Amino acid sequence: MSEPLYQRQLMEYAQDLARAYREIRESRDDFLKLLVTLVELKAPAVRGHARRVAFWSLRLNEALGRPLEPAALKAAALAHDVGKLGLPDRLISSWVGEGDEDRELIEAHPLLGASLLEHVAAFSTWIPWVRHHHERWDGRGFPAHLAGEAVPLGARMIAIANGFDHRMHGYGGEPAYTLAGTTAWMEQNSGAGFDPELVRTFLSMPLEALWANRLWLEEVQG
Ligand SMILES: [Fe+2]
Repeated sequence: MSEPLYQRQLMEYAQDLARAYREIRESRDDFLKLLVTLVELKAPAVRGHARRVAFWSLRLNEALGRPLEPAALKAAALAHDVGKLGLPDRLISSWVGEGDEDRELIEAHPLLGASLLEHVAAFSTWIPWVRHHHERWDGRGFPAHLAGEAVPLGARMIAIANGFDHRMHGYGGEPAYTLAGTTAWMEQNSGAGFDPELVRTFLSMPLEALWANRLWLEEVQG
């Protein structure tokens, strides 16, 4: 006996919805990949940085008991520096400015990134994490000089992942640090640039093993 018509229709609706949702998710991922590729085209020196920041942010999120939705955090971490597309080429890779005008441009990149991403309504939950990823725990960051827990948690997490990756790879004319050098630098900055609680959790992770496996793990997480 055939099943009632309405049941079959409901099943078809459910399948259509699942397909539409999958397509939306895939287009979001494709769009984020496109943004990352654009930044890397303009700044080959930072190739892989956004994906590694996403990797370390997600690891920290897990170590904290997953306070943030992983897909949102990953998206924000991937897109955190997309505002660099609005900077002159000489400032994108080197990050070393000359004079007040360059400093103002550099400090504007989180705002530029946030205003670019605001064109996509679905990104609204995590755009503040992009806007504030250069704030500091002590309030001496930019662009809004927020301090402590007034800095959104996602932004505080990305700031740590960002700082860690820049030290490990070298950036802006500075050589790469060793893992020991990087962790010492993070401890020094705990309570100044970084949220001390987050630094403590980050440093409690098996960093050496994660570092060795980071590229493989990046692939797995897609
Ligand atoms: Fe940045």
